[in-house]
Amino acid sequence: MRIDIITVLPELLDGPINHSILKRAQNKGLVEIHIHNLRDYTNNKHKRVDDYPFGGQAGMVMQIEPIDNCISKLKSERDYDEVIFMTPDGKRFDQKDANSLSLLKNIIILCGHYKGIDFRVREHMITKEISIGDYVLTGGELPAAIITDAIVRLIPGAIGDEQSALSDSFQDDLLDAPIYSRPANYKGWTVPEILLSGHEKKIRDWEHEQAVERTKKLRPDLLK
Ligand code: ADE
Repeated sequence: MRIDIITVLPELLDGPINHSILKRAQNKGLVEIHIHNLRDYTNNKHKRVDDYPFGGQAGMVMQIEPIDNCISKLKSERDYDEVIFMTPDGKRFDQKDANSLSLLKNIIILCGHYKGIDFRVREHMITKEISIGDYVLTGGELPAAIITDAIVRLIPGAIGDEQSALSDSFQDDLLDAPIYSRPANYKGWTVPEILLSGHEKKIRDWEHEQAVERTKKLRPDLLK
């Protein structure tokens, strides 16, 4: 898979993209992640990417031209399955979206500024608009990092134990059961007896019951 992220703040993406599991997935050749600085696609001396809005409102607008230059260049090099714009008024991202995006070959993610992007970009170049939640951040960089993480960890081989991505909370619309490690008794706080029993079938049944109970209590909306 290949992910191209277009941003005016590449340094904001460096941490999340180039460490831990995302770094390892790139090193293993499971995913290529390319960060493009929008300023490199301007035609003006000062590398400006924004201008005043028509109509006299406050604030600046990200201009269409550098975005078009960047997306057109990428598209001339390969086909893309989706051109995604991160925006709080997009479709709310969930595990199902992560699953389906993880199956694609090439995607572009444009980090923008919600009120400040020439709307023609959204009308003519974007195929999918995604929000990470009903709150407004200063830009699309952190949201882009979040969906990239959610997508890449699903690529087979990205996390050590493939099974564990499939058994994540939300994959079956259930939250995870509680999990514990040694010591079995810490300051009198004990772990559930059943987990120490060595009885595989009973443990799996207990985990399922716990998952259903926790989902009922914390996220009843997930239960159909
Ligand atoms: N850009 C700013 N806020 C955002 C959000 N909640 N989701 C996606 N992109 C955004």
